[in-house]
Order: sequence, then structure tokens, then C-alpha cells
Amino acid sequence: MALFITFEGPEGSGKSTQIQLLAGALRQAGQAVTVTREPGGTRIGNAVRTILLAPEHTEMSQRAEALLFNAARAQLVDQVIKPALARGETVLCDRFGDSTVAYQGYGRKQPLAPLEQIIQFATTGLTPDLTLYLDLDVRVGLERKRTGVGDAWNRMEEETLAFHERVRQGYLDLAATAPRWLVVDATQDVAAVQAVIWLRVRTLLATSGVTYSEVADRT
Ligand code: TMP
Repeated sequence: MALFITFEGPEGSGKSTQIQLLAGALRQAGQAVTVTREPGGTRIGNAVRTILLAPEHTEMSQRAEALLFNAARAQLVDQVIKPALARGETVLCDRFGDSTVAYQGYGRKQPLAPLEQIIQFATTGLTPDLTLYLDLDVRVGLERKRTGVGDAWNRMEEETLAFHERVRQGYLDLAATAPRWLVVDATQDVAAVQAVIWLRVRTLLATSGVTYSEVADRT
């Protein structure tokens, strides 16, 4: 069975590292895996990403921002995610619709009901089987991002600490609403975070009837 797994978290929570580690473990276990990210993952989505995150785009309307994230999402769903799931692959996606609820809904204080409709339209209702939320103090995450080697500093990161704290609260509220969420303490070291994630994914694979090779037990 094809699984759709998303990663969510505030800035600097270590999503990209953990996605690569999980993809490696799944491949070692004999699974075909597609790794992608939002906004981006397609030619059109990457062009939209550049518009969305450019620090100089300070005049961007909040509704335009919400719609652009979802335009990139619609393209990714149609061009990458659905075809990969149809081929029976496990899809790992760095951010998905929950990011819009957390950032545009809680962070920007845009009304949640229309946002949920826009997300539904963009995703055609596609919902992750599992969402791994990497949680940490937003100050720690922003500091990691500022001093780290990842993507360049972007327009969202220019926001106030209060904005990022609302985003975190949004994630925690969302995580409390549905069993598809796993909240992981992202202040732990990389190996410890990986172990928690792998345990949950293995359980999900087992309950979904997916067989995997024992070699994966070494992680
Ligand atoms: P990234 O840093 O994980 O690549 O994400 C890019 C930024 O875009 C990050 O600050 C979160 C933000 N974002 C939203 O505000 N809404 C969304 O729907 C998505 C997918 C990302």
C-alpha cells in the first residue's frame, strides 16, 4: 500500500535531515520512495516558491500569499504526489496543507474556514496517512536557521517571534485533533528523533500490511 507521510514544524526544526534519514531507511527496507517539498517540488511550484519567499516582496497581500502556497500545492499534488502514490510508492513531503493552517491561519490570523476550503480545493481532499510534527522552541529553531547551512533566510522568517509562536501553537492545536499526528521533541539529537520517527513508521507499515526487509531493524 502506498503511504503518504508529511513533515511539519517551525523553522529550523530539522525536517530536511529527518526526511532524508527516513527515505534512506525506507529504501533500505525495499520501499520505493518519492521525496518532495512545499512550496516547490515542480517547475511551476519552484517558480511560485521564489515569488513567495523573496525577502523583498514585503507588499504581498495575505490572501495572495495563501493562494500562491495553494497554487504550488495543487501543482505538486497533480504532477508528483498522486502519480507516485498511484505507482505504489511511499511519498514523503516536507510540509503540506497543515502549514497553511499554521502559518496563514494562526500566524497571519486569516480566517480558518476559507483557508480549509482552499486547501481542500488544492489537494482534492488528499490527506496524509501520517504527519510527523517536529516540535521545538521557536527561538531555538530560528537561531539554528540563522546560523545553519540550509536554505537562505526567507520572507516568512522575517516575521516576529509572536508570529512564530502562534504558528507553533497552531501546530499543537492541529496535532491534538487527529490520530494521524505524531509530535516529536525536536530538541533531541538527530539519532534520537530518527528513532522515534522510525518506530512510528514501522508500526504504520505493519498495520498497513506492507512487508519490509529485516535489514531495516538495524536503524
Ligand atoms: P521551508 O523553510 O520549510 O522550505 O518552508 C518555506 C516557508 O514557507 C516556511 O517559512 C513556511 C512557509 N509556508 C507557509 O507559510 N505556508 C505554507 O502553506 C507552506 C507550505 C509553507
